[in-house]
Amino acid sequence: MNWLPRPVNGRAHVAPSLLSADFADLRSDIDSMTAAGADLLHLDIMDGHFVPNLTFGPFICRAIRALTELPLDAHLMITHPERYLDSFAEAGVDAITIHEEIPGEVGPVLDRIRTLGLKRGISLRPGTPVEKILGWLDRLDLVLVMSVEPGFGGQKFDASAIDKIHDLADRRRQEGLDFLISVDGGINDETGALCRTAGADILVSGSWLFGATDRADRIALLGQRA
Ligand code: DX5
Ligand code: ZN
Repeated sequence: MNWLPRPVNGRAHVAPSLLSADFADLRSDIDSMTAAGADLLHLDIMDGHFVPNLTFGPFICRAIRALTELPLDAHLMITHPERYLDSFAEAGVDAITIHEEIPGEVGPVLDRIRTLGLKRGISLRPGTPVEKILGWLDRLDLVLVMSVEPGFGGQKFDASAIDKIHDLADRRRQEGLDFLISVDGGINDETGALCRTAGADILVSGSWLFGATDRADRIALLGQRA
């Protein structure tokens, strides 16, 4: 188990989304993002049902685990996360983030993730209000605010995420809670700065980071490293 504290001094953790990586040469992309200063890796798991796209599952997560010591957050865009939690845990991920909009009950899924010894996250689609997860905030390690409709990389940032980040940061302060606020979709230097200022702790970025000629420059910019 490998996890991150809240960032300090206006900085943010940077999480490259491997959705934009070259899967024929994952080792090179992971090594390059690690050398460039990535703080954790974001793994987009899609089932072709919860979202209209398919990616990979625990088998590939295990291969990724063997390539890196960075914390791994599995963002499960799948209808039935409860069926696969043990497999993702066995694959060696550090955190499992499920979606609030799944048809089943969220509570038992969060409990199971905890029992497996992993960090617990919930993600909100752009149309899902923060109010939907208020009852879970005190048992979450991470809230993942989607700033695009989940399913594909390379989409335009949806500014509704900014208000949600503010709202979550306010509630966290008022209630003395400790979860990390992460944001995912359309993150670049400009949108990343807006999210950081609003209170985001983790900036997930796929196409903008992987498309860079200098990845270290972009990670330093997103994370506000000195
Ligand atoms: C979208 C995924 C994102 C995606 C982000 O469903 O959850 O993690 O990879 O990619 P960009 O940064 O290109 O929007
Ligand atoms: Zn994601």
